[in-house]
Amino acid sequence: LARGAARPDLAGRHVVVSAGGTREPLDPVRFLGNRSSGKQGYALARTAAARGARVTLVAANTGLPDLAGVDVVQVGTAVQLREAVLKAASDADAVVMAAAVADFRPATYATGKIKKKDGQEPEAIVLVRNPDILAEISADRPRPGQVVVGFAAETDDVLANGRTKLARKGCDLLVVNEVGERRTFGSEENEAVVLGADGSEIPVPYGPKEALAETVWDLVVPRLG
Ligand code: CTP
Ligand code: CA
Repeated sequence: LARGAARPDLAGRHVVVSAGGTREPLDPVRFLGNRSSGKQGYALARTAAARGARVTLVAANTGLPDLAGVDVVQVGTAVQLREAVLKAASDADAVVMAAAVADFRPATYATGKIKKKDGQEPEAIVLVRNPDILAEISADRPRPGQVVVGFAAETDDVLANGRTKLARKGCDLLVVNEVGERRTFGSEENEAVVLGADGSEIPVPYGPKEALAETVWDLVVPRLG
């Protein structure tokens, strides 16, 4: 906080951060979801506010308390997250997609609770693709010169996968985590490499999610128009 207060390098800027994980409902009591805690997105929102930004935080199922001085928009599904992010992005200087967006959602929603049937195996769940919000914003740039940042958790050849994903998404920066022993889900800490569309590669050592958040803003600031 002291660091941010001493350096209000996001003053006069509007930044949008998505956090948490979307839930895709099957029926009134069930959903397909993921383990994202939302802590990294909250750290990004908190640090941006401390550096002087106006912050819109689009939060999906985090259960975390609202942040003072941050506009928090609560959403549930990927489609809702897309709407909220696109709306906030129209006048944003930067968009950071830290949320884990479900790639697929159930093709149909049962308005009544799905029940077992005697002697019958369950029906398969048919899935359809969700919109790719990061790719859409990167391609359209609702505001000219907008800086767009994505996150990716990868295994195997983490850097090569990250480079491929950065190119496919078309964003300016991609924060790549290796998924492995020190799981990032729910933890207070993170380790990453930030890949830039300009070919840059900034390693961020294992440490608090706040420190990774500060590094992301350090890399966003010089790219702002
Ligand atoms: N993302 C998004 N919309 C989606 C899926 C992902 O905006 N439908 C964003 C995430 O918020 C994240 C980035 O894209 O910032 C990378 O997410 P990831 O799941 O790693 O990318 P995918 O393209 O879904 O690739 P994969 O098949 O590896 O899951
Ligand atoms: Ca995905």
